[in-house]
Amino acid sequence: MIKNELKTPYFMINEGKLIENLEKAKHLKEVSGVKLVLALKCFSTWGVFDIIKPYLDGSTSSGPFEVKLGYETFGGETHAYSVGYSEDDVREVADICDKMIFNSQSQLAAYRHIVEGKVSIGLRLNPGVSYAGQDLANPARPYSRLGVQADHIDPTIFDSIDGVMFHINCENKDVDAFIGLLDAISQQFGPHLDKLDWVSMGGGVFFTWPGYDIDKLGAALSAFSKKHGVQLYLEPGEAIITKTTDLVVTVVDIVENEKKTAIVNSATEAHRLDTLIYDEPASILEANSEGDHEYVIGSCSCLAGDQFCEAKFDEPLEVGQQLHIMDSAGYTMVKLNWFNGLKMPSIYCERSSGQIEKLNEFGYDDFKSSLSRWSIS
Ligand SMILES: Cc1ncc(COP(=O)(O)O)c(C=O)c1O
Repeated sequence: MIKNELKTPYFMINEGKLIENLEKAKHLKEVSGVKLVLALKCFSTWGVFDIIKPYLDGSTSSGPFEVKLGYETFGGETHAYSVGYSEDDVREVADICDKMIFNSQSQLAAYRHIVEGKVSIGLRLNPGVSYAGQDLANPARPYSRLGVQADHIDPTIFDSIDGVMFHINCENKDVDAFIGLLDAISQQFGPHLDKLDWVSMGGGVFFTWPGYDIDKLGAALSAFSKKHGVQLYLEPGEAIITKTTDLVVTVVDIVENEKKTAIVNSATEAHRLDTLIYDEPASILEANSEGDHEYVIGSCSCLAGDQFCEAKFDEPLEVGQQLHIMDSAGYTMVKLNWFNGLKMPSIYCERSSGQIEKLNEFGYDDFKSSLSRWSIS
């Protein structure tokens, strides 16, 4: 397959960049003894799991289908967590997961009998502290439903569970801030943790960020494990997949209304939803902040505010030109939708050898069948 003959829009996952992140993950494991499970909520494109599997210990999930996907396509340890299980969910995953983590004491009480003896049982705790840039993603926000608050915990519960999970970080690039949270948890819950086999510190620790002091993180994790006699886990999503993937689009029109807008054959609402939800403009590979030619990179959806970003370029953009919207894998490919009946981006992987492999492509039939399979008679 030849790269510049591929039809846009498409995602291109770069194996070499993925391996760079995975080597950092491997180093972290080596210096800390921590186990790492991939958070499928962030990235579930199982066609590249053969690249990731040798580096990590398994997968973790947020809903029953992710558990099944992790079990079938990733292997290793399969962790099952959900903010709200139904009894059917619990029964569906009880035989395929290794650890089941409940979000509340009421869910634990309701379903413990189904999983007891089959899986290692965990409970999510909410220490009331966090590191998250945006309120929407802050597990410690007021009235948070995520995990049991310290003052609501029945202390006897630690005699009958195997582990706990805390997820309190979002894109935390500051190792000292993370260590501060780790210390706070150790102080707040220490005697309880001493009774457990494992503790998961969740995701959101951005240890693959350039310059991140992995050894310092590793030493802190290792000290925590030893202090409380537990196996520590992290559940990285974004840290594994960051900066590995471009969404490649084509400029289909250029319009002007005080500002120039280059309309591309993709939309944030359909293909890069977090750009919109978190109001975080995308970055374009071809842009140059010093350039003289400024454009809004506009979506081809009907939503008035649907734009990727504003960017400057050295030369004027032209219809037919391709643009690479960088860092478009995490929380992106898992959220694709068919808004406006737009063409769904294909998915490719560029292997370290330079070879391009196709992982998925979509057509009109996929769009149609996502809406109804049967019509009323
Ligand atoms: C419980 C849990 N674990 C892991 C993650 C993955 O986080 P990240 O992709 O930021 O590493 C999340 C993200 O929301 C989460 O809620």
